[in-house]
Amino acid sequence: MQLNETDKQWLDETWMKIQSKISAECDRMGDKIPYIAENGIYKMDWGKVMLPFWTNGFWAGILWQLYKETGEDKYLKQARSTSDKLNTLLIKADELHHDVGFMWLHTAVADYRSTGSSDGRTLGLHAANLLAGRYNPQGGYLCAWNFEGNEGWAIIDTMMNINLLYWASKETKNPRFRQIAIRHADKTLVNHFRPDGSVYHIAAYDPQTGELNSFPPGQGYSSDSAWSRGQAWALYGFALSYRHTGDMKYLDAAKRAAHYFLANVAQTDWVPLVDFRAPLEPVCWDTTAGVIAAAGLLELAEYVHELEKPLYVNGAVNIIKATDRRFCNWDPAYDSIVANGTGSYHGQGGRKFDYQMPIIYGDYFFIEAVLKLLGKGIFFW
Ligand code: GLY
Repeated sequence: MQLNETDKQWLDETWMKIQSKISAECDRMGDKIPYIAENGIYKMDWGKVMLPFWTNGFWAGILWQLYKETGEDKYLKQARSTSDKLNTLLIKADELHHDVGFMWLHTAVADYRSTGSSDGRTLGLHAANLLAGRYNPQGGYLCAWNFEGNEGWAIIDTMMNINLLYWASKETKNPRFRQIAIRHADKTLVNHFRPDGSVYHIAAYDPQTGELNSFPPGQGYSSDSAWSRGQAWALYGFALSYRHTGDMKYLDAAKRAAHYFLANVAQTDWVPLVDFRAPLEPVCWDTTAGVIAAAGLLELAEYVHELEKPLYVNGAVNIIKATDRRFCNWDPAYDSIVANGTGSYHGQGGRKFDYQMPIIYGDYFFIEAVLKLLGKGIFFW
């Protein structure tokens, strides 16, 4: 990455601050699994509140990143404690969902990648089989969630989860996982993208015939709006599908998603609103969308021509720097780094507990992006 001296210095300082912060959090956390910090404290243990929740692998993901860079045993121990809890879910398949990629890539598979753990490999393959089992062959998509009546729903977020399938094929030399990932990516490419580069969150298919029926509203403002985190999942997810397959149409899709994201985030000083097509009031940020997009832009920058790289790298640097300047807390005594993440525009089931709050995956992707800029970190996807 071509960075100027000021940016390099900022990056080194940020990495030092990340290490102080995570070290202190790790000492305080015990074996809790954090989700949102309230007034600087991770009060609730999501291992107890809702173990199958999709975000429960991200703290372990942060710990594996820190373990890789420092070799400190405390990170490995705590990351494994999260793995042990999540692995108990593998015999409760009906509680699991399309987000097993997020959950197991950052726990069991991360352990395998970091230490060579054969249990990590086996458990990761179990999770991949569960994800593959969600495939609807008639429709060519992976089903999201488990609500009655949504057997035909596919969502843009799943583009990140299919990386578990690419990994499983590479590990087992069995192409079936990868074939499913490709079918799902192809279907997503055809049906989720709008001509302007924005994406629908949800596509609803008839699970019997596979026919596309509608675009139900999801976590954005409305079904026709542009949920910024969905846009970030599209950007990063298609860049990764290009990485795993070499298929140019995925790289082009990642670029289209990126151009839409960059044009919009530049309007609000490089921190995204939760939806790029919502009314101006109330103003609601989602810093997590920004940091996910930044990590995705850096991935995308790896595969484009030299002369194209600055567009994506500068965009990522602008987002991470603005997030740092406007919304980061670096006090090691205060849990969480990145404030103002938002789970969904209208709240989850009307509850707005994760509305403009520090959310664990915001910290994870912020750290991933900083490590990428430094040329460090583990590749988890
Ligand atoms: N399940 C992914 C998201 O809420 O962004």
